[in-house]
Amino acid sequence: MMPETTNISNLMNEQRSYPPSAEFTAQANAQPGFYDQDPDEFWEREGRERLSWFTPFSTLKEWNPPYAKWYLGGKINACYNAVDRHVENGLGDKVAYYWEGEPVDDRKTITYADLQREVVKTANGFASLGIGKGTHVGVYMGMVPELVYTMLALTRLGAPFTVVFGGFSADSLSGRLNDMQCTHLITQDGSYRRGKVFDLKATADTAMDAAPSTTTSIVLKRCSNDVVMHEGRDHWWHDVVDGQSDDPASRPCEPMDSEDLMFLMYSSGTTGKPKGVVHSTAGYLAGTSTTHHYIFDIKPDTVYWCAADIGWITGHSYIVFGPLVNATTSVMYEGTPDFPDKDRWWEIIERYKVTVLYCAPTAIRTHMKWGPEYAQKHDLSTLKVIGSVGEPINPEAWVWYRDHIGGGRTPVVDTWWQTENGMVLITPLPGLSTLKPGSASKPFIGIEPAVLDDHGEEIAPGAGAGYLVVKKPWPAMLRGLYNDDARYKDTYWSRFPGVYMAGDGARVDADGDYWLMGRIDDVMNVSGHRLSTIEIESALVDHPDVAEAAVTARADALTGQAVVAFVTLKGGRDGSPEKLAELRDHVGKVIGAIAKPANIVFTPELPKTRSGKIMRRLLRDVAEHRPLGDTTTLADPTVVSEIADRAAVGKDE
Ligand code: WT7
Repeated sequence: MMPETTNISNLMNEQRSYPPSAEFTAQANAQPGFYDQDPDEFWEREGRERLSWFTPFSTLKEWNPPYAKWYLGGKINACYNAVDRHVENGLGDKVAYYWEGEPVDDRKTITYADLQREVVKTANGFASLGIGKGTHVGVYMGMVPELVYTMLALTRLGAPFTVVFGGFSADSLSGRLNDMQCTHLITQDGSYRRGKVFDLKATADTAMDAAPSTTTSIVLKRCSNDVVMHEGRDHWWHDVVDGQSDDPASRPCEPMDSEDLMFLMYSSGTTGKPKGVVHSTAGYLAGTSTTHHYIFDIKPDTVYWCAADIGWITGHSYIVFGPLVNATTSVMYEGTPDFPDKDRWWEIIERYKVTVLYCAPTAIRTHMKWGPEYAQKHDLSTLKVIGSVGEPINPEAWVWYRDHIGGGRTPVVDTWWQTENGMVLITPLPGLSTLKPGSASKPFIGIEPAVLDDHGEEIAPGAGAGYLVVKKPWPAMLRGLYNDDARYKDTYWSRFPGVYMAGDGARVDADGDYWLMGRIDDVMNVSGHRLSTIEIESALVDHPDVAEAAVTARADALTGQAVVAFVTLKGGRDGSPEKLAELRDHVGKVIGAIAKPANIVFTPELPKTRSGKIMRRLLRDVAEHRPLGDTTTLADPTVVSEIADRAAVGKDE
């Protein structure tokens, strides 16, 4: 099914365009002719020159659809590439991170030499509790430096990990720990969020109770909130790590095969169970660092800030591995943009003279709502490139971002990619692309997307919208879904055999620029976070009072999409504001706060076909307050108009 909401304003915005300035182009990492290079030669060279190898690779790539391998035969270590070699190369005094805690004045400057010492100590501490090559480790932390130390220490040891976003519930965490069969969990007592302490350890306790394989935890003290430490299972970070040697020779980087599993990132799909997206080592490092270098025009003196959370793929690729491989100086911020006030981001940019900012359209729209006066209080003139990721950016927000944050001079790079991609695939290059607000511009070098119609035929540029696919493998692409080949093939490779189906609708204009139009499957995108309708439905029916639930999304000015749930209570009972609050909290408990429906419409019945299938299309119409589409296939056509009446009086939060 194709997206029903074409972004009409996009059509008008094709005329509005911003060519690169000659001044920017003259100094840009990607020079004219960039796209004319042979892609294989390009990736071969980037692999050899951008990365350091223990054993050089012998073959660039192998493609047995749907499985790709890159940089075959090489031995490499992510931590060595991100940390050690920079110190060996005399960059020890260069700042790796300016870290800011959410409490004001809680700041740390971490050089590459500091980073190496901390990572070595951490790796030694982890090893003392049995973590080594091949150990599976779960990570459930906030945006603290120790999260970066943890990820780097694990790659140093060769231990595959999965980082679970700190806002996820105990059930979500235990689901991932069980799926990956993690023996260890790294967590912290609490994390700061808008001045409050979120009790991570208590959630981790509930999760570990439901994850029998996880028998050891290491707990960082961050907020000093009360926690219960289980004798024999839980260990304080400071007891395990602080006394360890920080000499890199005490814990050399484990040589890993190019294709060894580095981490899993779980992502919602169209079933109740999140998918364990598999990322391997060398291709991931090459893909993330190369795109980072060209898209953000990274220079030795760049001060780069990706304001995402490391708990998502954006943070893995563009806060941790991509920037560190490039020896970049980054900013890392623990808290929310409005703590203590709504100018916190702009204060940070001024303080560290940030030159590159990368964030999500939701954040941009939030700042837009708060008003430009917060940004105007600060000097943002150091900014050179500003980027966006996570969802389609509406042209209005794009222009606001460029004018009010970029001072009307910076290129805006709207980067399209996914958890499965590992790296940006469709993006402008700031010195080359003529930018159009709302378009992600062109495929990166070597990326071959296409837009297909229902029959799998390619739709020509300018000829309309269809399914976005990618025809050739790229270095950081997923290597599969963890322990689930069937789902891997079914999800991405079955609808159109031989090509990767992204699950997004898109069109290409006559200039070859891509316009992304949102998901075409039962996946929603709320504030740049992927949510599954089925997962939320399962969470709702898990509540003892719920008989049936159907979930859909409606457009939202701030969050892109908002979750709307239609719920039938058991015993024909009527809904109430109390029940609504209770069900929202329940979804928060089962999945995490991000999944809470913005609105719940209680209804005695859901619209179904005569064969009993819920007609989601009609519920989408209702949620969007659109005129109802064809209702003739309904078993009882009166049901849906009644729901529409109820939805019309229902108020969103
Ligand atoms: C989905 C992937 C990897 C970034 C964080 C989200 C949407 C992402 C864009 C963009 C339009 C975008 C797509 C995609 N998306 N970036 N620039 N323009 N849509 O990762 O959770 O894996 O979600 O986010 O719908 O399929 P994710």
